[in-house]
Amino acid sequence: MRIAIIGYGYWGPNLVRNFSATEGAQLKLVIDGREERLQLVRKNYPQIDTSQDVEDAFSRNDIDAVVIATPVFTHFDFAKKALLNGKHVLIEKPMTSTVAESEELINLAIQKQKLLMVDHTFLYTGAVMKMKALIDDGHIGNTQYFDSTRINLGLFQPDVNVLWDLAPHDISILNHLIKDKPVSVNATGLSHTKNGIENIAYLTVNYESDFIAHFNCSWTSPVKLRTLLIGGDKKMLLFNDLEPTEKIRVYDTGFSHKTDEERKKILVDYRAGDVHLPKVESKEALGGMAADFVQSIQKQTAPLSDMYSGLSVIKILEAAQKSIKQNGKEIQL
Ligand SMILES: NC(=O)c1ccc[n+]([C@@H]2O[C@H](COP(=O)([O-])OP(=O)(O)OC[C@H]3O[C@@H](n4cnc5c(N)ncnc54)[C@H](O)[C@@H]3O)[C@@H](O)[C@H]2O)c1
Repeated sequence: MRIAIIGYGYWGPNLVRNFSATEGAQLKLVIDGREERLQLVRKNYPQIDTSQDVEDAFSRNDIDAVVIATPVFTHFDFAKKALLNGKHVLIEKPMTSTVAESEELINLAIQKQKLLMVDHTFLYTGAVMKMKALIDDGHIGNTQYFDSTRINLGLFQPDVNVLWDLAPHDISILNHLIKDKPVSVNATGLSHTKNGIENIAYLTVNYESDFIAHFNCSWTSPVKLRTLLIGGDKKMLLFNDLEPTEKIRVYDTGFSHKTDEERKKILVDYRAGDVHLPKVESKEALGGMAADFVQSIQKQTAPLSDMYSGLSVIKILEAAQKSIKQNGKEIQL
């Protein structure tokens, strides 16, 4: 599988390092508009060709697959050109800037019979795999809520708001872990720079069942927090991504309730039992993602982080954007 990577900014080097070590992949070409970034590629990987012209990724016959690690607003154009030129495509999250663009790419990929995949890296982490196993085997019971916090003093992005920047990770985890279909969203947010790009935002995803998901994203927090709580009626999970090894805690915590018929009061019984720390695989997730891309092309199977998971994230983000602009109005999905 001969691969070209477009974009050698912050994230591109991680992709280059992982694809260089992926069995069945041959990294042939790295493209970036900035010559100083390409000098770094040549220094570290003298065997890889470099170019400032993105068209090379689409026109060269010795390229089978294109990996896109440029800013979000470029994803659709680059992915479309790559597919039209018969290449398989891996796009960095978030897939595109709109639902219509993602749907057009999906239709094109089906028509051209090429793999279109989105890098939702978290799905390949040991922590998410462990949480999936715990939920799927009924360990935590019926899931009741998903509550994520992803805040720090972050880089203000010039083109996308904080939800588009940070929430794709957690939304992809939500959609992967929870089988119920979300029905609507409410979101609020503020741009303290007054440029219309929110630097702090709160998103709620609503379901028909007794389940609710909430996301707190900010570039303006003095502390960095990366936590996710998942509540079940048997147990509750805490995923703290900043913990070096003990990333998951399983709390034998819960509550039961009954109604006091006479006084019409809810009587709640609490249970706070042991905390269990399951072992979590610590292999680099991006390596697993790169291997999944290559193997899915070779075996013609669907990857874990497929184009439909990319689309489902964009549907929630686009609806959240609409809701923010209408002061938190509920938007149907
Ligand atoms: N999966 C993850 O965990 C993860 C983490 C960080 C970023 N990302 C995603 O990766 C993508 C890139 O983010 P980043 O932080 O690396 O951005 P960045 O701005 O640091 O890097 C983008 C690079 O693309 C190059 N570029 C832009 N337009 C180009 C063009 N037309 N032709 C050639 N080169 C061009 C720029 O020169 C730059 O070096 C985004 O979609 C982002 O959301 C994913």
